[in-house]
Amino acid sequence: MAAPSFPAGFDFTDPELWEQRSPVEEFALLRRTAPVWWNAQPDETSGGFRDGGFWVVSRHEDIKEISRNADLYSAQRKGAIIRLPNETTPEQMELTGALLVNMDPPKHSKTRRIVSKGFTPRAVEGLRAALTERAARIVHAAKQSGGGDFVQQVACELPLQAIAELLGVPEVDRRKLFDWSNATLNYDDPEYGDTNAAFAEIIGYAWNMAEQRRACPVGDIVSTLVNDGLDGEALGSDEFGFFVVLLAIAGNETTRNAITHGMKAFVDHPEQWARYRAERPKTAADEIVRWATPVNAFQRTATADVELGGARIKAGDRLGLFYSSANFDEDAFTDPFTFDITRDPNPHVGFGGTGAHYCVGANLARLEIDLMFNAIAEVMPDLTELAEPVRLRSGWINGIKSWQVRYE
Ligand code: HEM
Repeated sequence: MAAPSFPAGFDFTDPELWEQRSPVEEFALLRRTAPVWWNAQPDETSGGFRDGGFWVVSRHEDIKEISRNADLYSAQRKGAIIRLPNETTPEQMELTGALLVNMDPPKHSKTRRIVSKGFTPRAVEGLRAALTERAARIVHAAKQSGGGDFVQQVACELPLQAIAELLGVPEVDRRKLFDWSNATLNYDDPEYGDTNAAFAEIIGYAWNMAEQRRACPVGDIVSTLVNDGLDGEALGSDEFGFFVVLLAIAGNETTRNAITHGMKAFVDHPEQWARYRAERPKTAADEIVRWATPVNAFQRTATADVELGGARIKAGDRLGLFYSSANFDEDAFTDPFTFDITRDPNPHVGFGGTGAHYCVGANLARLEIDLMFNAIAEVMPDLTELAEPVRLRSGWINGIKSWQVRYE
């Protein structure tokens, strides 16, 4: 089959492209004709990689294959984030190796074992009462305002509160943690603050927290993570600092965008909203994550020459795992372009391709989405869209920056 020809310079991680739209048609073409396709990149727009480009992996089955083979496809060699700021230096890139998502075994396995203690079903369930109460407060305040920006008024707050609850951050410190978290991620959008400074502030704050809990454990998650338990494994204070940065990156915007895209999907499919209000199906959260696909792509780097999807990949080549394509793959889903909150099974890869890096916060995210939509359905079910959502300028986050609505 003929390989697709896109306009010169077309780049699946171009922040300007994603600011306009998700390249749905282009992905469909790739899945049909060139499921592993070379996306050439000039050095100056390579997101700091300066290595000629990367492979776009568009099919569900190939993404699962890569995600499950950490020996052949490394998250560490060039990191998992496919689009860093263009001016990123090799030294800065090296630093990101301290984040869990950018590690390979055995370092990844060890750190992941420790971090997972914070996300056991019991730990997540333990947040339910506090988050239910927060979700109610958020929607009551929004309703009272009559209308405004859904992202700021509704979607933003619960994911941040969830991370703060999980870590036991005192109420007085939450606002500054929230501001740093928001500034950490949006380096492609000039509207947000200084990324590097925010990164350093979070690490400093978390480092202090770790030192305090080590000196004086109080039986919370942080005390568990930074002190040797029965198994003798713990995070150092700087490792804990990077973990909090990762939570701010991984658990904040992702869930926020799932909530905003989810509400937009309900507005666009009123019959699904009616069904949600009547039945509250447990399958809804996963369909919202599939539909939203808040993370467009993460990447891996081949550790040896390999053939995949008809392409010859060389050791050192980057591969972009485009979840935003795989979640609409006709070979994996019946009617992928139908938003169906009762979809079951729903083998979406919104939380990753079920390998070693599979989202450790997936159950927490499902809980947050569930609580938020339940609260909206209870308190302000009649929401009217006043304008189309304004999309985020980012090469790897499928984000909505603002969305004007009216609540009733
Ligand atoms: C809808 C919301 C979310 C989405 C779509 C999402 C998506 C993802 C994806 C795609 C990965 C990488 C999977 C892979 O490489 O195979 C990931 C990893 C991760 N996520 Fe999430 N995530 C969400 C919410 C959260 C939350 C709420 C937290 C924590 C508060 C969290 C913490 C993490 C961490 C720590 C990792 C790294 C795991 C590792 O490398 O072992 N995520 N997430």
